[in-house]
Amino acid sequence: MAAMAVSAIAGEQAEIMRAAVRARWGKPEKVVEIDDVSKPKLEDDTVLVRVKAVSVNRADYYMTVAPGILLRPMIGGFLKPKMRQLGTDFAGVVEAVGKSVSGYQPGDEVFGAKTPAFCEFVAARMFVHKPANVSFEEAAAVPVSALTALQALRDHGKLEAGQRVLVNGASGAVGTYAVQVAKALGASTVTAVCSPRNVEQARRLGADRVVDYTKEDFTRSGDRYDVIVDIGGTHPWRHLRRVLTPNGTLVMVGSQRRNNPLIGPLGYIFRTALASRLSKQKATFFIAKFNKPDMETLRELLESGKIKSVIERVYPFPEIADALQYMGEGHARANLVVTF
Ligand SMILES: NC(=O)c1ccc[n+]([C@@H]2O[C@H](COP(=O)([O-])OP(=O)(O)OC[C@H]3O[C@@H](n4cnc5c(N)ncnc54)[C@H](OP(=O)(O)O)[C@@H]3O)[C@@H](O)[C@H]2O)c1
Repeated sequence: MAAMAVSAIAGEQAEIMRAAVRARWGKPEKVVEIDDVSKPKLEDDTVLVRVKAVSVNRADYYMTVAPGILLRPMIGGFLKPKMRQLGTDFAGVVEAVGKSVSGYQPGDEVFGAKTPAFCEFVAARMFVHKPANVSFEEAAAVPVSALTALQALRDHGKLEAGQRVLVNGASGAVGTYAVQVAKALGASTVTAVCSPRNVEQARRLGADRVVDYTKEDFTRSGDRYDVIVDIGGTHPWRHLRRVLTPNGTLVMVGSQRRNNPLIGPLGYIFRTALASRLSKQKATFFIAKFNKPDMETLRELLESGKIKSVIERVYPFPEIADALQYMGEGHARANLVVTF
């Protein structure tokens, strides 16, 4: 729906648009609603994008419920969120181009990251062209999750061609990209750990071996991996290091199974990083960082078909709270996308 000019403020017309907002921390179905907010203004170094699709990440769920009471000030407000709006990943069509932006024009299809993104328009700096072979829904799923997978394997796991990779939590948003990115970077074998309903999907994405975690504990397999990307956070360091090569690296991406009510995942992350100091095997945690070169890399991987977005459900915008709620249950199959 188009943004409307509705009121006059200081002689100027303020334009509004629809956005997903929440005024307090809580379960998505209780706190998230659609409201009118100001439409963002085009700045010299931004493009104004009419949003076609957004994806719901686990971070968006955390930004709604706020896990770890003591972490709340860090993620934006102790008693209530300072920022009402939500979301980061978007795909859409450029409406207007800032004076200092080159290479883009109105009508271009783009995808990228901008907080907040769960709204009809974003004024974005971090975006690239959407490949023609990829839908808006597929492109919107990419930024946070695929960027995390890329940086986990390439920058923090230092993955080299010919090495062996295990992805624990291979059926979620980050994990489905991690399996594909590991193959694209030349891993000799990729082992995917997931629940039984996602075994076939992991094979289709290119996993050489799939471990059903309800039947087998991968830390007792006797196999060894150069890089473990741990998205599930299901095993302690002393078990994980059994299946790392002597110089192998554990890259901790998430740890929802080990969240503490006060400090969320921080205790587990610090304990693991500290324990690994005594060993040649490394354990590292990182927070993915947006940058244009990595977004271009993802665009190329999409264009060449080396990575594809897996989307379990597409929700209409008015049902965005349902998407957040489902994401919070922890077993979404890859990506959840919302369309406008
Ligand atoms: N560090 C960063 O920069 C960064 C960036 C993005 C996300 N994250 C974090 O990464 C985590 C995952 O994010 P996501 O978006 O991929 O979430 P997600 O889509 O909900 O995926 C989580 C996956 O974990 C799997 N899982 C649940 N129990 C498991 C078990 N016992 N063993 C193995 N896998 C299990 C689930 O698969 P099944 O349904 O098959 O059980 C689910 O697909 C979150 O904690 C998130 O906060 C971190």
